[in-house]
Amino acid sequence: MKREIQLSVPNLSLDIVENLRECIETGWVSTGGRFIGEFEKKLADYVGTESAVSTQSGTAGLHLALRELGTGHGDEVIVPALTFIAAVNPVTYLGAVPAFMDCDDTLCMDVDKLAHFLEKECEKNPQDQLINRTTGKIVKVIVAVHIFGNTCNMERIMELAQKYGLKVLEDATEALGTYINEGQYQGKFAGTIGDIGVYSFNANKIITTGGGGMVVAKNKASLEHIRYLGITAKNDSLFFVHDETGYNYRMLNTQAALGVSQIDRLEEFIKIKIQNYNLYKELLSGIPGITVLPFSQGIRANHWFYSLLIDKEAFGMDRNELMHLLISEGIQCRPVWKLCHTQKPYVNHVAYRIEKAYYFEKNILNVPCSTSLSEEEVKYVCDAIKKAKP
Ligand SMILES: Cc1ncc(COP(=O)(O)O)c(C=O)c1O
Repeated sequence: MKREIQLSVPNLSLDIVENLRECIETGWVSTGGRFIGEFEKKLADYVGTESAVSTQSGTAGLHLALRELGTGHGDEVIVPALTFIAAVNPVTYLGAVPAFMDCDDTLCMDVDKLAHFLEKECEKNPQDQLINRTTGKIVKVIVAVHIFGNTCNMERIMELAQKYGLKVLEDATEALGTYINEGQYQGKFAGTIGDIGVYSFNANKIITTGGGGMVVAKNKASLEHIRYLGITAKNDSLFFVHDETGYNYRMLNTQAALGVSQIDRLEEFIKIKIQNYNLYKELLSGIPGITVLPFSQGIRANHWFYSLLIDKEAFGMDRNELMHLLISEGIQCRPVWKLCHTQKPYVNHVAYRIEKAYYFEKNILNVPCSTSLSEEEVKYVCDAIKKAKP
């Protein structure tokens, strides 16, 4: 039988069956029930915030967060070009438009280019709002996406946000468990530095609830407003009074039933992610043309996703050729996302000096990184890469 090594799959334990049994037996299978509050509390305790608000997906959390930060029709929101498109779409849901930035070697937003954009391309209007001179739109928010469990340079982003009066939304959907080890934000978890942070528990994430998300915020009233918006902005549950247009975004008790178990295993999962990452590095070292991309200095990264950089000249084969070869060996791997500013809905938007992102788009290969991956499977993948080299 042909071997199958998947890219990033859930690692679930059997206590979840008991939790789900309780949901079924008690009838609490929707947006009420004890697991929701328990999961919110556990997550908040883990990342060191006072509270957290659960949602049915990370995308829903980002949508609520952007709305809470005042993003409205015709505004401009700064986003990375290199990210999963779900980090960008909620901008459009609110009638605003994205302005795309390049990435640096960490794959996260290039803060030097961001600074240059804010200084050279934008100006304050008489109402002290930041305006993009070319589009005439008000720039409201920076969406800092922590790619693959790395972190953006949050010190610089927060400085720039303060200087230009912008809000910061941290898309920490891929970075639950990553924290800063040095500097001003030492000890802070990804997602807890900006105005609002969002996590995801999609099936490929470091912990999963099948689908789901969580929002944390600096401002308590803001977070409670997000909670309110996510339950259809219901003021009175007997007479059904709604004072705003809300959303049906609250997490289900059945999702949270997975979450309360998964979060107890988060540190164990991060340990495995780091071990397997180090094994890849060791086994692939010395192969010309293959670089295992590092995580940023000065952080404890959750090592969620592993990226190889394929140098065609040195390896003798390009990324796509290697990818198809590995797939034919039963090894699931994939390229990094097609850049967002080149996707059909976004081709006519601001894309500021995008250069590096094209290089990574062309040359990155993501390889299996599930927490259930065995040492022997990592060896199998590395051997297949070695054998592929012409
Ligand atoms: C960077 C990024 N943003 C947003 C999302 C959306 O999260 P969800 O799938 O939970 O809606 C994901 C992952 O799926 C992601 O990787």
